[in-house]
Amino acid sequence: MKIDYLRVSVTDRCNLRCVYCHPLCGCDFIERKEVLRLEEIYRIVRLFVECGIRKVRLTGGEPLVRKNIVYLVKKLAGIEEIEELTLTTNGIFLESLAAELKNAGLQRVNISVDSAENQSYKEITGFDLLPRVTKGIYKALEVGLKPVKINSVIIKGINVSQILPLAQMSVYLPVVVRFIEYCPTSKYTKPASDYVPTSEVREIIESKFGPLSTMLTGANNGPALYFRIKNSAGTIGFISGRSSTFCRSCNRLRLTSDGKLMPCLYSAHTYDLKRLIRSRAGDHQMRDLLNSIISEKGSFTKLNSFKEEFSMCRVGG
Ligand code: GTP
Ligand code: 5AD
Ligand code: SF4
Repeated sequence: MKIDYLRVSVTDRCNLRCVYCHPLCGCDFIERKEVLRLEEIYRIVRLFVECGIRKVRLTGGEPLVRKNIVYLVKKLAGIEEIEELTLTTNGIFLESLAAELKNAGLQRVNISVDSAENQSYKEITGFDLLPRVTKGIYKALEVGLKPVKINSVIIKGINVSQILPLAQMSVYLPVVVRFIEYCPTSKYTKPASDYVPTSEVREIIESKFGPLSTMLTGANNGPALYFRIKNSAGTIGFISGRSSTFCRSCNRLRLTSDGKLMPCLYSAHTYDLKRLIRSRAGDHQMRDLLNSIISEKGSFTKLNSFKEEFSMCRVGG
């Protein structure tokens, strides 16, 4: 597998408190001095690009709460070899930032929307802000941050009733609505048994909209599989991280907001890149390490060291 995709969490802070991500567990935010500075992020990404990374996704926490995020996008967009520069956001600040982000060189956005109904959105995220996110979606479409993908994590007892209204969004809007199997990350979030398998979500969708199309090909690679409801403007995607595994085709590395490189979402073993760059490691030394991380992941050797718990807001999904 060619390892060419780096996910960069630019902050662990977030302006929402989603039930599946940000529990009230007292898990502290990272101290500011421990968070990578923008110049440090830029340097690490540039070095990774020299080692073969071609796709970069900015995540959080919520990346749009990071000060000077547009500046970072602009700097990264200046790295010629990057073929895809994207961002995953909760959409709260998207209406005001979409045009600037597009002008700075961002190509597209994925937006978390776990409910199409105000009250249930508030119950899931802690804030009554769905109308604002909806404006963000329209703005992203308007300025051409496309294709816009909507991420919906489905959890028992929380938003199963939203599957149909969310799927309906793909009928009238040219967006990709992706249903994501909930992945438990700590004892403070929802239990593992609350995840809803893709097969069930699909059944619910097909009971109302009829059979989905055969699987669409040509979508960029990644864990999602894509389909279409008949006569719809957009498409439907499924990310089945629990009912199936895609480790063997995984091309992603993750950089946490405090500068740890994770070869896998679940890897217990991380590489402290911040410590290295703050101890003045030269480009040569850094590239040697990044190359060895890439080839180790490519040969699929370390992924048996699974960790039971991790903080989603530090890793960024
Ligand atoms: P695209 O490039 O648009 O396909 O985006 P993406 O799916 O890579 O990124 P996004 O940030 O929108 O992530 C969507 C969901 O997919 C999140 O819940 C991630 O945790 C999950 N996800 C992404 N990559 C992996 C992976 O390698 N393993 C698992 N288990 N889940 C993943
Ligand atoms: N399980 C599955 N997906 C999650 N996300 C956040 N937390 C979880 C979780 N526990 C998804 C959100 C967001 C993306 C970056 O990760 O949908 O859009
Ligand atoms: Fe914030 Fe995203 Fe976590 Fe929700 S899922 S609390 S929007 S980081």
